[in-house]
Amino acid sequence: MKATAVAHPNIALVKYWGKRDERLILPHQSSLSVTLGPLSVTTTVEFSVERGEDFVELNGRVAEGTERKRVVEALKLVRADAKQALKAKLGAARMVSKGDFPASAGLASSAAAFAALAVAARAAAGFARDVKAESILARRGSGSASRSIEGGFVRWNRGRRPDGKDSFAEQLFDEAHWPDLRLLVGMVSREEKEVKSRDGMRSTVDTSPYYPAWAKDAEVEVKGIVRHLERRDLEAVGETAERNAWRMHATALGANPPLCYLKPETLGVIQACRELRRQGVGVWFTLDAGPNPVLLTSAKDEERAAELVRAHGASEVVRCHPGGDARLVAQHLS
Ligand code: DP6
Repeated sequence: MKATAVAHPNIALVKYWGKRDERLILPHQSSLSVTLGPLSVTTTVEFSVERGEDFVELNGRVAEGTERKRVVEALKLVRADAKQALKAKLGAARMVSKGDFPASAGLASSAAAFAALAVAARAAAGFARDVKAESILARRGSGSASRSIEGGFVRWNRGRRPDGKDSFAEQLFDEAHWPDLRLLVGMVSREEKEVKSRDGMRSTVDTSPYYPAWAKDAEVEVKGIVRHLERRDLEAVGETAERNAWRMHATALGANPPLCYLKPETLGVIQACRELRRQGVGVWFTLDAGPNPVLLTSAKDEERAAELVRAHGASEVVRCHPGGDARLVAQHLS
């Protein structure tokens, strides 16, 4: 009744922004991401036979409030499934999780955390590996976590069913498909963002007049980028990722009150990317709901891209490449 899993974060090239169902975490549109190595989160889950309160520890401190509630909810779902499928009676759980990158990196550490939790909790409950069930469970913790169960290039299909059973992510190409691809996170700001993604996307859906156009366009962009990824066409992938990031930020800027996640340094990096491209360096950007740009480039231009973000105030550059699947490991955290 104890298992440990390791999962990687991911960066969306076509973003998820907006839910059609807040409780089940069902998106209005499909999205597509790259799983990021070498960064990872490790999570151990142990169920006891005793009833009682779940214990949740994240990065060395006992979790409270919303953070704890989201984990406890996910554990509840595992218990309910186990009771139905395996007739197993699971008591209180002990969950310990640790990431090897700072939450402030601007990369959603919650995606890797909920993916590792889904894999570890299901294994601890006695289930065999099942990437679809794990993706659905991870999604209930955090939408983007559904895309961190499998490695490489992953599409989260929005699904149509009201119960969410067809809303899960699937791998399109594994991490060996494009080993030359580099993704560099430029940390231009470490400040906690004012509006969290969850609240920002809710407000955008409710108040931005551009929201329906965003959702429709993202669905089309997912289809297009799959073809570019298949051919490993960095220019076409980069152009799509930039356009999609701009459109996500544009629809968020259209919310009331407006949501601006960018900082002056962010715009500095974006302009410098264009300039470098004019000089023949293949570098493009994407942006989550925060100020830290993620640059897309190839191994040969990695140094130039890292210099670029440093020159625009990045205190740190986190260098990533396509990472692998979430996996069970033998060494437990506690
Ligand atoms: C901008 O998955 O963190 O990073 O489902 O509310 O937990 P919740 O949101 P979350 O949102 C991620 C938004 C994004 C784009 C993306 O990763 O697709």
